[in-house]
Amino acid sequence: MSEKVKVKNLSKVFGGNPKPALRLLAEGVSKDEILEKTGLTVGVNNVSFSVDEAETFVIMGLSGSGKSTLIRCLNLLNKPTQGEIYVDGENILEYSKDQLRQFRQQKVAMVFQHFGLLTHRTVLNNVEYGLEVRGVSKNERLEAAKKVIETVGLKGWEMKYPNELSGGMQQRVGLARALANDPDILLMDEPFSALDPLIRREMQLELLEIQSRLKKTIIFITHDVNEAFKIGDRVAVMKDAVIEQIGTPEEILENPKSEYIRNFVQDIDRSKVLQAENVMVRPTALASVNAGLKVAINEMRDNGISSVYVVDRDRRLQGIVTIDDAIKALKEKQSLKDILRQDYFTTEPETYIQDLIAKATDSKYPIAVIGEENRLLGIIVRTTVLSALV
Ligand SMILES: Nc1ncnc2c1ncn2[C@@H]1O[C@H](COP(=O)(O)OP(=O)(O)O)[C@@H](O)[C@H]1O
Ligand SMILES: [Mg+2]
Repeated sequence: MSEKVKVKNLSKVFGGNPKPALRLLAEGVSKDEILEKTGLTVGVNNVSFSVDEAETFVIMGLSGSGKSTLIRCLNLLNKPTQGEIYVDGENILEYSKDQLRQFRQQKVAMVFQHFGLLTHRTVLNNVEYGLEVRGVSKNERLEAAKKVIETVGLKGWEMKYPNELSGGMQQRVGLARALANDPDILLMDEPFSALDPLIRREMQLELLEIQSRLKKTIIFITHDVNEAFKIGDRVAVMKDAVIEQIGTPEEILENPKSEYIRNFVQDIDRSKVLQAENVMVRPTALASVNAGLKVAINEMRDNGISSVYVVDRDRRLQGIVTIDDAIKALKEKQSLKDILRQDYFTTEPETYIQDLIAKATDSKYPIAVIGEENRLLGIIVRTTVLSALV
């Protein structure tokens, strides 16, 4: 996958001449002490990360940790004090005025927490606004605006004004406006934080759905760990202007780097974060339908297990066989194919553990994780599912 955004050793210091603050930062002096000594506020301290194309990268942290300062550096609403920012390999800090304007109009778009809609303009006119600024012809921009309005589920609301819409719908307009320019990169600064919990969950799912179709590069900010882990392909946790840890939700959950992160993630419901593919294992034994009964029996004996999944040459799942059935069949001269059972449960790799609990409790065998063309990717033993709950 190609690297879309790369941030190297980025720092942002607010107020006056930043040099004393940078010097103290380099010496490892804390943000609080620097404020005390110099009166300068360190917004972002030496952060580095990169974001791949089509990735949803979440920056999570408590209020005041530097999230907004960081994301506003990415379209140069904040001018970084130190460091480098590359987008598609270009150093955006070296952009001329014209290049920067083009970059802001065409490559990135921002969605804000408080929607930032123009109250005297209709939904349609809000959404086409960016295109108007760019000088796109009326027909063309109306067409583009209508299309994205449909994408965000607001068809039929084009002629309403923002104050006639609920918070959730206003943020859909905010999203549509950002998408209207068809930017590669969406910067979203706590876009759902002002919404009620139910609407908020709805918007999270909507964003995931839209993203699965549009495949933008998204940098999404939140202070909510559940939201971060639901939406992010990877998550960066910020604390006191630095990035404390970067990883996939699973990595952070399984390997919190510090006490701070451990505390942050302890309230997470693991069953809502971990998916089948995160907890499945390679089966210790497998039987090939062509190799036959004796080989299947040996597989089970050697591994001390009482049943084994049976696959064809291309690892497509054919069924499961139990040791009792197999020994009986050997005596009665039946073949492996004759005694294949189908009373097992399967799941797709993306299924969340919480949705496997019922299957795990009911199942006699490990759950089979199935990919394309019914290929067996792995198995999940029931204790894994049930232990993920504690
Ligand atoms: N324009 C500014 N001038 C001075 N200090 C600022 C400015 N913007 C943010 N800060 C300070 O930078 C730090 C990080 O703020 P911010 O990035 O808004 O945090 P977050 O978005 O994580 O809540 C805070 O200490 C804040 O007071
Ligand atoms: Mg903020």
